[in-house]
Amino acid sequence: MTDLAPALLEILRYPDPRLHTVARPVQGVDDRIRALIERMFATMHAANGIGLAATQVDVHERLIVIDVSEARDQPLVLINPEFEWLSPETRKGEEGCLSVPGIYDGVERAIAVRVRALDAQGLARSIEAQDMLAVCIQHEMDHLLGRVFVEHLSPLKRLRIQSKLAKAQREALRA
Ligand code: NI
Repeated sequence: MTDLAPALLEILRYPDPRLHTVARPVQGVDDRIRALIERMFATMHAANGIGLAATQVDVHERLIVIDVSEARDQPLVLINPEFEWLSPETRKGEEGCLSVPGIYDGVERAIAVRVRALDAQGLARSIEAQDMLAVCIQHEMDHLLGRVFVEHLSPLKRLRIQSKLAKAQREALRA
């Protein structure tokens, strides 16, 4: 057998309405889910992302892959994640999203979180995170609720982003 790289998935682009779908819980951590996890990691790495929610690849189940490490060797899988705790202290930091290419803006987030989730083996884990990982978890968990980070911005900023993305898309089609 040849060692085939997992096929990449298409990432939905804002304002695709499918990004507003609320994900349902994963029913069982089986081979289908593990294959999806592999393809999501490959897709995220190919796009130079640090997190990807299943919602972004048009699979509406509560599944997130994350790797915020520089060496891309600390994969984190969150299945059916739920917040156990969010720090009352928040901070505004710059965020981007593979579904909103080229756009970065400030979002206020808790600086630390604790989440309970299943891992790729289906085992329940409690994960404490701070700084970039905490922000990434909050950003990806928003996706599972059908929320894109630009929805934290003002309506005016959101309109500007939509017209900028539409223009970029028109130019890509013309090229
Ligand atoms: Ni995102």
